[in-house]
Amino acid sequence: MRRKLAAGNWKMNGTGASLAEAEALAKAKPEPGCDLLLCPPATLVHRMAQALDGSAVAVGGQDCHAKASGAHTGDTSAEMLRDAGASHVILGHSERRADHGESDSDVRAKTEAALSEGLIAVVCLGETLDEREAGKTLEVIGTQLEGSVPDGVSGATLVIAYEPVWAIGTGKVPTLEQIGEVHDFIRARLEARFGAETGSAVRILYGGSVKPGNAAEIFGVSNVDGALVGGASLKAGDFIGIIDALEAAA
Ligand code: 13P
Repeated sequence: MRRKLAAGNWKMNGTGASLAEAEALAKAKPEPGCDLLLCPPATLVHRMAQALDGSAVAVGGQDCHAKASGAHTGDTSAEMLRDAGASHVILGHSERRADHGESDSDVRAKTEAALSEGLIAVVCLGETLDEREAGKTLEVIGTQLEGSVPDGVSGATLVIAYEPVWAIGTGKVPTLEQIGEVHDFIRARLEARFGAETGSAVRILYGGSVKPGNAAEIFGVSNVDGALVGGASLKAGDFIGIIDALEAAA
């Protein structure tokens, strides 16, 4: 059985004062029935990892560079994230694909860098509204999955997040049938490429306007192993509501 995962992506939100939310989460969930992860901005990774040391909440980055070190002003390497206390890193988020022009091969190189540092990679995939309306969703997801995920992954090192671009921060959520169709498709593709054992061990998260009020029904969909949560992960109370729903579904 895949252990469920509730992951929070704080995006470019949060300062030292926000660590109180992470601490409140850790206090409320000392022995959660699922894995918990918070991915704060790079400036908070070290402080959050220290604040959550010994708790059930893991800390991750939101991106890393594909290279180990060098002349890359403003970038952060996988080793630096690990050194700061991260165990995970989000890669290929649609905001990075859009804002920074990250291609599937960029995401793949970053994922290889993360894995070589022992970080668990949370690789994001998702179609735009235009692509969905053109009937290209599965084609887009298949291409992103193939191009962004390197060989040699396992259920312990890779997490996939399906995040339809049009559902991120919009309050719009796909139907349960639409979510199930894409998650089942990703599962089948993972099993075809990596074999049944590995392909069935990789967790597939849904992301895009997950809230306490819609989490339970989303977690009832086949092959939904948890959520990657943006806005609703910033406040411990909201995120705990989502975690409660995930624990109930586990
Ligand atoms: P929202 O939950 O704010 O829609 O963001 C989803 C997301 O992009 C998480 O990575």
